Amino acid sequence: MSANPSKVTIKATALLLPLLLGIAALCSAVPDPRYREYLIKKERSQQTGGRVVLSEAELQFNVLLDKLKLQEMETSDFPPAMHFFKAKPLIDRSKLFSLLQKMPKGGALHVHDFALVDVSWLVKNVTYRPHCYVCFTDSSSVRFVFSLHQPKTSPQCSKWMLLETLRAKVDNTTDLDNSFIRNLTLYTYDPEVAYPSQDVVWKRFEEAFIAVWGLVTHAPVFKDYFYEGLKQFNADNVMYLELRALLPQTYELDGNINNRFWTMRAYQEVLKEFVGKHPDFFGSRVIFTAHRGINASELTDILKEAIKLQEEFPEIMAGFDLVGREDTGRPLWYFSKALSQPAEHGLSLPYFFHAGETDFQGTDVDQNMLDALLLNTSRIGHGFALVHHPTTKALSRQMGVAVEVCPISNQVLKLVSDLRNHPAAMLMSEGHPLVISSDDPALFGASGLSYDFYEAFVGIAGLKSDVGTLKELAVNSIRYSSLSPQQKEEALSIWQKKWERFVVENLPQ
Ligand SMILES: *[C@@H]1O[C@H](CO)[C@@H](O)[C@H](O)[C@H]1NC(C)=O
Ligand SMILES: *[C@@H]1O[C@H](CO)[C@@H](O)[C@H](O)[C@H]1NC(C)=O
Ligand SMILES: *[C@@H]1O[C@H](CO)[C@@H](O)[C@H](O)[C@H]1NC(C)=O
Ligand SMILES: *[C@@H]1O[C@H](CO)[C@@H](O)[C@H](O)[C@H]1NC(C)=O
Ligand SMILES: *[C@@H]1O[C@H](CO)[C@@H](O)[C@H](O)[C@H]1NC(C)=O
Ligand SMILES: [Zn+2]
Repeated sequence: MSANPSKVTIKATALLLPLLLGIAALCSAVPDPRYREYLIKKERSQQTGGRVVLSEAELQFNVLLDKLKLQEMETSDFPPAMHFFKAKPLIDRSKLFSLLQKMPKGGALHVHDFALVDVSWLVKNVTYRPHCYVCFTDSSSVRFVFSLHQPKTSPQCSKWMLLETLRAKVDNTTDLDNSFIRNLTLYTYDPEVAYPSQDVVWKRFEEAFIAVWGLVTHAPVFKDYFYEGLKQFNADNVMYLELRALLPQTYELDGNINNRFWTMRAYQEVLKEFVGKHPDFFGSRVIFTAHRGINASELTDILKEAIKLQEEFPEIMAGFDLVGREDTGRPLWYFSKALSQPAEHGLSLPYFFHAGETDFQGTDVDQNMLDALLLNTSRIGHGFALVHHPTTKALSRQMGVAVEVCPISNQVLKLVSDLRNHPAAMLMSEGHPLVISSDDPALFGASGLSYDFYEAFVGIAGLKSDVGTLKELAVNSIRYSSLSPQQKEEALSIWQKKWERFVVENLPQ
């Protein structure tokens, strides 16, 4: 035995080593599952809606929601990963989407005045009204105008043709109407090819806005358009709308021009009529907007008018904003002196600045978010670049300034392609104050708010977001609105009733 002790030792070691390793793994190398569970819960509680206390019914409803969301993720064509123009038919067929359509979503806080209504309504209804003329531009776009007489030819446009006459002449009016519809939206079969860069897509975007202009600034159309917009948002279960509005002059058939005060009164009257017929609709307020291409002295004049409007229409006017592409427009800091004037004179003009709708880091424009906060903005429109700026982000949170996230707009205008990579995913994972909105739904071939809610809930918020997330997003849209504290309470209690009914009506069988 003693002749060969080493053999025994080797044998013993060979047996012991895996055993020792196994014990070591059990004792210290495998992480403590309770600790893991604790960390997972902690992280979940940080996300948007993570601390919302759910009722028994909401927990049951969540089972359905979970199941439907999993179904969306199991298909090979995951809609949020695709361009919206291609994803839309898939979204339209999704059960989760039809649930989100029925869901009371609260308010839409970032929508522009002339991108509210499905453009087929403009073509099928408005261009069929009498006295509507069209001309075709050199860049193969269209312009419209209503006039009693043959209008004077515009530069770079064909002779004006009365649409009634033109339609009688063409073989197929459907083809003509479809070409108008294409001019008034950005929709195209192959967006990646049609819009290779931000410059190209923004050019088309602005072109579509100009094409729509002659139709929607005709005074009677202006009113009908807003009414139709309210109708479409209300039908999408949105109860409140904050409209970014240019408040343009409008024109009558006889050539008379109405000023901004007429435009504001028109909004007020149409809203009153709509709410009279739809008492569940809470209302609408207007954020007066000017194009950021103007210079400081022009802005000073516009701000004076804004203050007058704010004084004359306090219940419908919410405040002021600058619009247009940030990357090519003037940065907010350039306007800082003019924008500080109202506060210096003790006048109230709340700001709702578009800021950070850019993917260029470190430019003057990229600084807009911080400058918006320094200029006392009430919300940040887009804030796409916010996650690049930890100090600004912390300040926005501390000031309770919500970010208006518009997923489809950011995708179509080429800031992000797969919406799972939208920076709002980071904001949502840490419960940053934010709301979901739709920016220019009509131009993107969307409508109302549900498509953006779908993209935010399925694509941006991820699998762990739940009924609490949806609830917090809807509540945020009232909490961060421009309504007074008392109106917010009123709107919240109306929303709460709608919400409870929605949950009960959609419990899993
Ligand atoms: C007009 O064109 C559309 C689509 O291009 C087609 O579906 C329709 O049948 C045409 N109508 C007539 C009257 O030719
Ligand atoms: C706009 O309409 C014109 C005239 O019908 C048409 O030739 C042109 O192709 C349209 N533009 C787009 C982008 O579809
Ligand atoms: C067009 O819309 C107006 C209301 O906005 C409506 O009264 C009218 O009946 C519509 N006309 C057509 C042809 O759809
Ligand atoms: C601002 O723009 C207006 C209108 O284009 C122009 O008349 C004015 O000279 C400009 N002012 C400055 C300071 O550039
Ligand atoms: C900041 O904005 C809020 C809301 O519009 C307003 O009540 C407050 O007076 C403003 N503060 C300053 C310093 O302008
Ligand atoms: Zn916008």
